[in-house]
Amino acid sequence: MILYFSGTGNSKYVATLLSEQLGEQVMPMIGCDGKDIEDKRIIWVFPTYSWGVPPVVANVIKSISLSPDSRHFMVTTCGDDIGLCHKMWRKIIRGRGWKDVSTFSVTMPNSYVCMKGFDVDSEDVMRSKLAAAPDRVKEVAQQIESGEGGIDDVVKGSWAWIKTKIIYPYFVRFCMSPKGFEATETCVGCGKCVMRCPMGNIQMKDGRPVWGDNCAFCLACYHQCSGHCGVRYGKETVGKGHYYLPKVKVPT
Ligand SMILES: Cc1cc2nc3c(=O)[nH]c(=O)nc-3n(C[C@H](O)[C@H](O)[C@H](O)COP(=O)(O)O)c2cc1C
Repeated sequence: MILYFSGTGNSKYVATLLSEQLGEQVMPMIGCDGKDIEDKRIIWVFPTYSWGVPPVVANVIKSISLSPDSRHFMVTTCGDDIGLCHKMWRKIIRGRGWKDVSTFSVTMPNSYVCMKGFDVDSEDVMRSKLAAAPDRVKEVAQQIESGEGGIDDVVKGSWAWIKTKIIYPYFVRFCMSPKGFEATETCVGCGKCVMRCPMGNIQMKDGRPVWGDNCAFCLACYHQCSGHCGVRYGKETVGKGHYYLPKVKVPT
């Protein structure tokens, strides 16, 4: 079973490729609890957030019912590097008493834009990452199929410990609030942000989107806005680019 979480399409795409390679069923992890998953091999596919496991993913792992002798793999997508996200994931899985077998990262176009200095990739960088992804996923699938344990085939990057142990907790506490999201004067009230939010956290009130508190900070609402300027995150996203995978032609 492949369980995925995705805001801008990268992890969903990787989950779909893995499912083709491995012949595994694929399912969004939000709302999957109570679905009677009997599989012994579970592959978690999700984006890296601030060099760690997104809190929404950690919460699903901590609460989902799965077989006590299930064996788990992590495949995280990232724009650049994951720090010690894999170690964080291993600890959460072991905390449930499950077997944390092996971990992998797949480099994909960047989606984080909510801070000074962070923007989407240039067209060239985005295309070269997307061109490399299918072969990388094949490689990952082969390693998962082999069943070998103890593999951490990930891009940790520099200062991994500081990024995951110091910056991640700060980021989760202070930089992931949905309060910064707002509709701009160019919002046409189409409701696409409502439809695309994987958490069901946005409602239309008087023709304008309003954000609730159950936000994963995946930025689906910002990136998938049909007008592209109808959603902003305070001043931070002014002049920033937009990225959403189905929007670009994926190499086959
Ligand atoms: C809140 C947030 C934090 C992110 N932090 C990181 C990071 O620490 N390292 C990195 O390489 N990419 C980071 N990214 C980029 C995403 O991990 C990357 O674009 C991922 O493939 C997006 O997956 P998705 O399209 O399935 O949502 C971040 C994105 C968001 C929205």
